[in-house]
Amino acid sequence: MVQPTLEETKEMGKITVNGQSLDLPVITGSENEQAVDISKLRGKTGFITMDPGLGNSGSCTSAITFLDGERGILRYRGYSIEQLAESATYTEVAYLLIYGELPSKTQLDTFSKKLSAHQELPAGLEKIFDALPAGIHPMAALSIVTESLSGFYPKLTNPALSKEEMDEVIVTLMGIFPALTAACYRKSKGLPLIAPRKDLSYGANYLTMAFGLPAGKNAPDEVMVQAFRQLLILHADHEQNCSTSTVRVVGSSRANGFASVASGINALWGPLHGGANQAVIEMLEQIQKSGGEFSKYLAMAKDKNSTFRLMGFGHRVYKNFDPRSRIIKVACDKVLAKMGIKDPTLDLAKQLEAAALADDYFVARKLYPNVDFYSGIILRALGIPTEQFTVIFALGRLSGWLAHWKEMLESPEFRIVRPRQIYTGSTERPFVPLAARG
Ligand code: ACO
Repeated sequence: MVQPTLEETKEMGKITVNGQSLDLPVITGSENEQAVDISKLRGKTGFITMDPGLGNSGSCTSAITFLDGERGILRYRGYSIEQLAESATYTEVAYLLIYGELPSKTQLDTFSKKLSAHQELPAGLEKIFDALPAGIHPMAALSIVTESLSGFYPKLTNPALSKEEMDEVIVTLMGIFPALTAACYRKSKGLPLIAPRKDLSYGANYLTMAFGLPAGKNAPDEVMVQAFRQLLILHADHEQNCSTSTVRVVGSSRANGFASVASGINALWGPLHGGANQAVIEMLEQIQKSGGEFSKYLAMAKDKNSTFRLMGFGHRVYKNFDPRSRIIKVACDKVLAKMGIKDPTLDLAKQLEAAALADDYFVARKLYPNVDFYSGIILRALGIPTEQFTVIFALGRLSGWLAHWKEMLESPEFRIVRPRQIYTGSTERPFVPLAARG
């Protein structure tokens, strides 16, 4: 496995606070990205650093994913996202992310067999779905049932997992996730569950279990399967994003793998993160309902007195283009053309995209369509219900979460995550008894 060439260079950073200077080591990654190591800062000077949203703070070193937001580069373990999306299966990519190398044929067979061995829901889990209130959002259901796996596999919740047990957590979650995510849909509609199949790909198995098969067919439509394969690969990892950081933070307390992943699901659900794919379609439908006049919405997105944002636009890291969007846009056009789909909502999406890309506000702030803009559109074109979009994101992201969880637990840097703060509340004051407070 290629290890990152992480080195403390001879260069040192220097920080001077209150007249006191401290030399700080500079850390250089394998792609020459650099960090000033401030881990001794508080101990030596009493100062901490402040970085709301952590946009300038590295929380760990990682050998999983490299991305360069300025140049629009995304690579998993050194392999470009373009090549992986073109040629790999999702299971190969998951193996690559988790174990560091593309699998040999034997390794892939063994991994796939282990996933197949775990693809059935454990006895009793269906009852948890049945106990959930009608109309619960599928992301809430997914988080609850994922967390509940801690109870179905108690031996895997030990805080000091052996290497074998950690692998068992990984294949259990990876194996069960297509059935679990499909059940989120079937149960939300009051439909009976469909049994998993061992002869289908990871994505085709999900599609079959969630939505059934087209009449007279033994497998889902190939256009759909290929688009879905790409979607899962594009969503598989994105280094220290909100949900992955959440999995790492929760896992750093040595909470078990099921609990850590359930926390990632909750973080992903938010509309500023993975929930944006659902929010994009809801926004487009809202614009359509109000007559299709999107200039009012563009104006609202630019208005600092409004909390409205153009969903599916902007990214914390990508400031030129999101390489995933490029791939997905091509796939999206292919799907629309092959399926002969004419949908006014999708036409509106294209018009809105063109208008925003030509608008000074969006250009000046480098706000481009992100992966969720096009994934929302492609999932709609595939006929997938809007509420399931973020669940599908989670299905793809699971491999990335597990890769980071494993990397963190095995790292010599491992430490519970516990940030500092600057307190801005009241200074000490005496307690006032209730009677005296009026
Ligand atoms: N619509 C309108 N204005 C926006 C948008 C948007 N979608 N995104 C950012 N801006 C503006 C901000 O108001 C800010 O303007 P200002 O400099 O005049 O104050 C500027 O652009 C910078 O925005 P920040 O909020 O500082 O950017 P940040 O990196 O914190 O947020 C985020 C990134 C959350 C993705 C943001 O762009 C957003 O809310 N986008 C819409 C939601 C979305 O699509 N999320 C999916 C992201 S991809 C993913 O998670 C898989």
